[in-house]
Amino acid sequence: MSIFDQTNKRRCTNSVKWDAMENVYGLKDASDILPMWIADMDFSAPAAVSKALQEHAEKTVFGYSFVSGEAIQSIVDWQFIQHGWHIENQSILFCNGVVAALANSITALTNPGDKVLISTPVYPPFFNITKSNAREIVSCPLVEKDGTFVYDFEAFEQALAQNVKAYILCNPHNPGGYVWDEATLKEIVRLCAKYDVVIISDEIHSDLMLDGSKHTPLAKIAGDEMDRIITCMAPTKTFNLAGIQVAYMIVTDKKKRMLLEAVNMASGQGSLNTFASVALQAAYTEGSPWLEEMLTYISNNMDYVIAELEQLPGIHITKPQGTYLLWIDYRELGLDEKEIMKRLLEDGKLALEPGTKYGEEGRGFLRMNIACSFDTVKDSVQRFKQALQA
Ligand SMILES: Cc1ncc(COP(=O)(O)O)c(C=O)c1O
Repeated sequence: MSIFDQTNKRRCTNSVKWDAMENVYGLKDASDILPMWIADMDFSAPAAVSKALQEHAEKTVFGYSFVSGEAIQSIVDWQFIQHGWHIENQSILFCNGVVAALANSITALTNPGDKVLISTPVYPPFFNITKSNAREIVSCPLVEKDGTFVYDFEAFEQALAQNVKAYILCNPHNPGGYVWDEATLKEIVRLCAKYDVVIISDEIHSDLMLDGSKHTPLAKIAGDEMDRIITCMAPTKTFNLAGIQVAYMIVTDKKKRMLLEAVNMASGQGSLNTFASVALQAAYTEGSPWLEEMLTYISNNMDYVIAELEQLPGIHITKPQGTYLLWIDYRELGLDEKEIMKRLLEDGKLALEPGTKYGEEGRGFLRMNIACSFDTVKDSVQRFKQALQA
């Protein structure tokens, strides 16, 4: 039996995934709905993280604190061990979330009215933070090839040429789970350099590599263009610590660091919660065995779901190279999004995410989070089948 087989009781714990479905899906009562939507895991975090947090709580004094040298070193070591990327301590800036890091980067490095490029379908806050910070979205769709989405570099260059000031990259890609290869990343850098565009690289999923895939940090392969990149990372997706709210940016360019620090100063942010740095350090120094076991577990969950759902006529799923999210193609069913969501929620009692949440290119797709016990995964497959049979 694996530690990941345990089912944690998450209902009635103020969990967004389990306790916010009434609001999110417009339901009167969601108490019988199985949530497989927002991207957190139902697994307990590594025991070392809970232990470090408990020990910290026992200190009983929680005055102002700074991030320790050991915690910073744990990030430097983690990046080197995981991704073979050597970063300098002084290039790290802290933030209480990757979305906040993206928003701060846009605020610091572009001006109101500037154009910001995104490649759709993509993680929804890329749209929201751009719009709500009064920047204009330029959307360049990824294109389908052999069951996955890839860059159309001709269209990408045309989009950049519209006086775009920043590009937000999702590497690895959410919702598709694509781990962009070095050639793709180098072309992104080359074109952004040609049009002098800053790249904000969201790499929060970078540690979730399946079946031997390898993540390449964009800045690692950017050569002389490294300074145009802000890399946003966190231990939260990796170790299921989203509620702890801890993230960091790796910024090699001193001037950009100063601009980002000025944004923090302007809003009084920039320092971490005292528990956040403790959790980060414990996860990065002691969490590797947990991560390795967890990745095997979710890979097996995926294999099971894909094998089962692919038997249904009209359903196609390509196994992702990274993350714990499945991007389910139901276009051949000929059902519109409203209808399939209604069936899933009412007949299957299953909450997945509708593809258009990620942009119009997501129409005909559903996103399913399989980071839960195998028993829960089996239950979800039954519910999915029930919804389609109904
Ligand atoms: C691509 C991507 N970026 C950022 C986040 C959220 O980051 P945070 O919770 O640190 O704001 C997610 C969560 O699903 C994500 O998928």
